[in-house]
Amino acid sequence: MNKLRPPRVTFAQMRTWEAVARLGSITAAARELHLAQPTVSAQVHEMQTALGQPLLAPAGRGVRVTDSGVLLREAVLDMFTRWQALQEELLALQGLKRGTLRIAGVTTTEYFIAQWISAFAQAHPGIDIELAVHNRDAVVELLHSERVDLALMMRPPSFPPLHALPVLDNPLVLIGPAGHPWAQRRRLPLKALKGQTLLWRESGSGTRQVVLEHLRAHGLEPDERLTLGSNEAIKHAVAAGLGLAVLSRHALDADPAQEGLALLPMTGFPICRTWQLVWRRDRRLPLAASAWIEHLRAALPAGLGVG
Ligand code: PGA
Repeated sequence: MNKLRPPRVTFAQMRTWEAVARLGSITAAARELHLAQPTVSAQVHEMQTALGQPLLAPAGRGVRVTDSGVLLREAVLDMFTRWQALQEELLALQGLKRGTLRIAGVTTTEYFIAQWISAFAQAHPGIDIELAVHNRDAVVELLHSERVDLALMMRPPSFPPLHALPVLDNPLVLIGPAGHPWAQRRRLPLKALKGQTLLWRESGSGTRQVVLEHLRAHGLEPDERLTLGSNEAIKHAVAAGLGLAVLSRHALDADPAQEGLALLPMTGFPICRTWQLVWRRDRRLPLAASAWIEHLRAALPAGLGVG
């Protein structure tokens, strides 16, 4: 009978390799893992020796991941997934007493996601909660690299294959400073936006992408000169009279005047979108994540959510 030989590579080295191969850089991996660069280099070297294969090759002034390195990263991800599944199986043996809910939400979800999680957290005091809030492109990357199990977003990527549960309408509204003369009008044509200064979220933002596509579909080529990196920065800038903006209604106070803002009525607005809770079809969902989905499904208002 073949004896299974234990690998001469540790989990810590594998974790390091996953980061090096994903980021394509020892320096970037060292930064992400809070390790010294020589430590990361040494771990890579030890893995190369153990496997008898080069994992990195010189390319220009940097390095590239070799084919063996790519295969190793895939194998590492498989092993981590199996390890996680084992932990879940062990947890399942004792019920939902321990575990981690790893979830990412796009920027605007910060206005409500903590509330959605709080009842669950109280009901399951043994579950750790890791919540990441970033823009759409960063959330997609977290799903790809399996650093989260669930994500809440408006524009799920087509890859990896995902399950999607619609959870909340996300109307994108046009705003201006309080007292803006347009606020009193019944409904302005979209072409009135021509020549207006618009303030934009950073590139990588799903909101920015949706608004751009919407305006272009209506024949407007907006000026993208003014970019601010958060909803709050945009709200302050609009209130200060720097320009107009399109943001999620959920990013605004119930009474926008309280924040020095006004909703501007315009044809084509609000742009109606929906946030969806998504998770990978090609991975087993941890117990804590499936429990939260069930918790959320039960709490969803009628009309949202799929069976
Ligand atoms: P974002 O959010 O603009 O923060 O990327 C987009 C979304 O709601 O998916």
